[in-house]
Amino acid sequence: MSLLETVHLYTPILESLDYFKQHDFHTYAHVLMVFVLSTLLAEDLIPDYQECIQLSATGPTHDIGKISVPLHILKKTTPLTKSERGFIEHHATAGYVLLSYYYKDIQNLACEVALSHHERGDGSGYPRGILLKDPMVEIIAVSDIYDALIKPRPYRPTAYDNRAALEEITAMAEQNKIRWDVVKALIAHNRKSKPHYKEIRISAEKRGTPPSDNVYGIIAGEEKTDSKD
Ligand SMILES: [Fe+2]
Ligand SMILES: [Fe+2]
Repeated sequence: MSLLETVHLYTPILESLDYFKQHDFHTYAHVLMVFVLSTLLAEDLIPDYQECIQLSATGPTHDIGKISVPLHILKKTTPLTKSERGFIEHHATAGYVLLSYYYKDIQNLACEVALSHHERGDGSGYPRGILLKDPMVEIIAVSDIYDALIKPRPYRPTAYDNRAALEEITAMAEQNKIRWDVVKALIAHNRKSKPHYKEIRISAEKRGTPPSDNVYGIIAGEEKTDSKD
């Protein structure tokens, strides 16, 4: 908490958080959770404390581009059309543009995180279909997926239970979509004994039951895809 308190955010960014708090509470709670979780994982994986403070600021801003997505699309509970899906995916590029303007610096890591947090290690993500490279983008990507799974979402009223969520994330690491050491750090924090992430062994046994009422990735009139938010 003391680390989080030292993170400085510009006024337009705080105003965007206020917008989400009022109009889309899912996104508001989500970005704060990603802020906390990604800081926790960064402390494990990126040992420089001062650098970690700067990295942490990328958590609450990673989805800022959703401010450009119409609320009725963000909150839609039935399958999206292809064009609505395009609006949602646009949030990555929109976030990059907004943060580049606010920070007056396209090299700022928050810009890269906003642009690339839906990219995957096998090139299957969006918006560019490039490979994940930056360690903090990889941390935000895993934090983002985990929080999306363990909470109810507009497209999925039932949350994954914690076991099923971790198994889903492990399966994504097995497919090389996200990085193993980030997944291990997340799982280590979920173990009672809090082992070091390099020392844990991950069970291959799948015991969780994903919720059945999930329309995420279903495009109206098309097959389901396997990406996550
Ligand atoms: Fe996102
Ligand atoms: Fe997100």
